[in-house]
Amino acid sequence: MNSSLKSTPASIRPGVPRTGLEARLVARPQGLPTLDCFEITEVAVPDLAPGQVLVHNLFMSLDPGMLMLMEGESGLPMPRYELGEVMYGDAIGEVVASADPSLDEGDLVIHRLGWREYAMARAGVFRRVDKDAYPAPSMHLGFGLVAYVGLMNAAELRPGDTVFVSSAAGATGSMAGQIARLKGAARVIGSAGSRDKVAHLTEKLGFDAAFDYHDGPVHDRLREAAPDGIDVYFDNVGGEQLRAAIEVMNVHGRIAVCGALNRQSTARPDEGPGDLLSVLGKRLTIRGFTLWDHLERAAEFGAQFRSWLREGSIVYDETVIEGLASAPQALLDLVRGAYTGKTVVRLGG
Ligand SMILES: NC(=O)c1ccc[n+]([C@@H]2O[C@H](COP(=O)([O-])OP(=O)(O)OC[C@H]3O[C@@H](n4cnc5c(N)ncnc54)[C@H](OP(=O)(O)O)[C@@H]3O)[C@@H](O)[C@H]2O)c1
Repeated sequence: MNSSLKSTPASIRPGVPRTGLEARLVARPQGLPTLDCFEITEVAVPDLAPGQVLVHNLFMSLDPGMLMLMEGESGLPMPRYELGEVMYGDAIGEVVASADPSLDEGDLVIHRLGWREYAMARAGVFRRVDKDAYPAPSMHLGFGLVAYVGLMNAAELRPGDTVFVSSAAGATGSMAGQIARLKGAARVIGSAGSRDKVAHLTEKLGFDAAFDYHDGPVHDRLREAAPDGIDVYFDNVGGEQLRAAIEVMNVHGRIAVCGALNRQSTARPDEGPGDLLSVLGKRLTIRGFTLWDHLERAAEFGAQFRSWLREGSIVYDETVIEGLASAPQALLDLVRGAYTGKTVVRLGG
């Protein structure tokens, strides 16, 4: 850890620590990142200027997409991480000092200034959220809304559909499978990378069938799980799973392309969907989507999600990593399949 402190003195108020940790990208990875691409630095908590707010981050999100932002030109609709700069990502924290009337000390806010224990910026960067919305503040970082818009907008889910979800034990997949069932899917099938995760899907998350994608050709496993074919594929992965889904898909099937884990976990270009003749023959729809295009559904989803939680009809699965210093290794472990559910890093509180 580099402990060179910035020269700015800290003078916020008694009780707020004078220093905090931040993580920078210090080398652009060739292939998959290694730990020496990251540097954790202790810096002084700066003074506030008028209009600014200081937030003590409680949790930050880890997302496989961060690996692509480290690489450089990712094709994602967001800026890459710059060398020498603090990385960014979704986080939730508590306002500990405010020089702007729109936010008060004690407010809970979400924002994009993760990868640091203290975030200071103009007030408009932070969005206040309801402290009582969820049992834990980390749940504001969940990917349920991603799953919801992927199913409802991109895949146009209909009651009675048979739905296949890849990386089904992960942050988005675990939500997508359960939401599909709650929205009327007749059969929900998941794939994951281990026997334990497969059992987790059917025993804890209510999937009707699940398989380990390492167990022989994905096409064969999917056909066994869906003898009557699939109508919707929620694609977190690409590669062989996408090709298998196209083959097993029914006429007028819909594919929502959410992620690219096959590429993210290998840092190699994906081979893509293969021969598109089946897409033509079966009149399939393949539609990429991003959460950012559908934020108007956030309030509707939040209300539904809280009601499902209250009824006990949905399971929210989360893995909590302790401390910013553990975050680089955890990001690498995340795409190696070490965790289930949404992975977050506890930064404070
Ligand atoms: N479109 C959007 O707006 C949006 C928003 C958020 C996230 N995303 C993207 O959606 C995808 C899922 O995100 P997430 O946070 O929910 O990730 P996640 O599923 O929690 O990601 C981690 C999992 O990826 C799986 N994995 C890694 N390499 C794989 C491979 N080659 N084949 C199959 N599975 C593999 C591992 O599970 P196993 O143990 O099962 O292998 C691992 O546990 C990512 O690509 C992410 O970037 C998109």
